[in-house]
Amino acid sequence: MTHRIAFNFEDGVTRFIQARAGELVADAAYREGVNIPMDCRDGACGTCKCRCEQGDYTLGSYIDDAMTEEEAAGGFVLTCQMKAQSDCVISIPASSASCKVKPSAMAGAIAEVRKLSPTTIGFSVRLADAGGLSFLPGQYVNVSVPGTTQTRSYSFSSMPKDGTVEFLVRNIPGGLMSSYLADRAAPGDALTITGPVGSFYLRELKRPALFLAGGTGLAPFLAMLEVLEKSASSQPVHMIYGVTNDHDLVDVDRLHAFAKTIPGFTFTTVVADPASSHERRGYVTHHLPESALHGGDVDVYLCGPPPMVDAVRAHLAEKGVKPASFHFEKFSPSEIAK
Ligand code: FES
Repeated sequence: MTHRIAFNFEDGVTRFIQARAGELVADAAYREGVNIPMDCRDGACGTCKCRCEQGDYTLGSYIDDAMTEEEAAGGFVLTCQMKAQSDCVISIPASSASCKVKPSAMAGAIAEVRKLSPTTIGFSVRLADAGGLSFLPGQYVNVSVPGTTQTRSYSFSSMPKDGTVEFLVRNIPGGLMSSYLADRAAPGDALTITGPVGSFYLRELKRPALFLAGGTGLAPFLAMLEVLEKSASSQPVHMIYGVTNDHDLVDVDRLHAFAKTIPGFTFTTVVADPASSHERRGYVTHHLPESALHGGDVDVYLCGPPPMVDAVRAHLAEKGVKPASFHFEKFSPSEIAK
């Protein structure tokens, strides 16, 4: 029996390894060529201290100088002593390069391009190695634009299915990827995806959550909802999906389907355009009920343009609400801002 360990480095690069039953996480890392920070390997120095974001584990033996009781209670671990008892996600306070990890490049090909609205295109990629891709729900990859030497960053809008993954792209007239997808893309076109990357990923829900999506910032939440659908979580999750114009609203049918299959999941949509006939006009902060903030006992996840992140921060401060955690991904229309 093995457990899948995701190492999320401080630059967002993520590497997955397999830890055998009873194997120290540090030994598993070295066996798979990941040089995580290490010194004494004896639970004495604290050099290997990391934070386990998700999963069950045993801490092993160590001295207080290496890790305090409070740190252990707060999710810190010593990887030279820790043994995983389930799949785990571990944040490593070092860069991927310093740990000899490079984002992996995977060959794939366009499977399908769907024009979802005048402003949004969905596309899917079939990977050459169907089982070769792992990522955390919410993460993104760099996608090569066929026929060019450039890449664009996109969040996965689905988890892998039969070696195929999906993305959502804002259709920007003249944009490099938009033009390719709108005018030239054909099934079978070869491309490369490199990653996964990003610290914006769904953690295990231990309390209610609030999902705030702006425009194609919906994408990572669709992947997260697929994972929640398969989980046993019944924590309340409220999503507010805000767009600029009516035709920017896409995949609402998928959200309705999730609302039927995920206990506790509710959502509303909001359109900013004052001329819209949508039942809720304005920004997400105009339609954020107090009840969705749970007095601060809430994990907030936000993916949207920078002004939206700033507006939500200001709104929470104005309400005097300090969420238990606040995870966000800022993106510009053509690329996720890292
Ligand atoms: Fe020293 Fe783990 S390497 S405590």
